[in-house]
Amino acid sequence: MEKISDQESQQQLNSDQETQINSQLDNQDAQSVDSDLPYVTDRSQIKSDLKPVCPQKKSYKVQLKHGETYFYCTCGLSKTQPFCDGSHVQMPGYKPLKFTYEGEDKIKGLCGCKYNKIEKGPFCDGQHKKLDW
Ligand code: FES
Repeated sequence: MEKISDQESQQQLNSDQETQINSQLDNQDAQSVDSDLPYVTDRSQIKSDLKPVCPQKKSYKVQLKHGETYFYCTCGLSKTQPFCDGSHVQMPGYKPLKFTYEGEDKIKGLCGCKYNKIEKGPFCDGQHKKLDW
């Protein structure tokens, strides 16, 4: 009787472990899907040993439209600044920053130096004035 109880107990433990492992695998799948995306949604997701190239030490003034989605170049190599043209393939770890503009239609300054504070996303925060090179 006790032997059966041990077996049942072991089966329950195995079942619990299986559930836990499957849950971990599901989480890993979700994370790998995110990291496989061809863009980031936050610049903190960019993992590279390389510093971005600085295309210009001033902002890019661009007309943004409410509700439009843009792909901002984070690496600095794009020939269609401030937006991505795929040149980041030369900069391992870099991907464009995907963002949807929520403000009213307006000309906005997007970071041209690529050194603005991460929480500013694609927008100029004046950081280019502090660059000493
Ligand atoms: S992020 Fe710079 S070209 Fe794509």
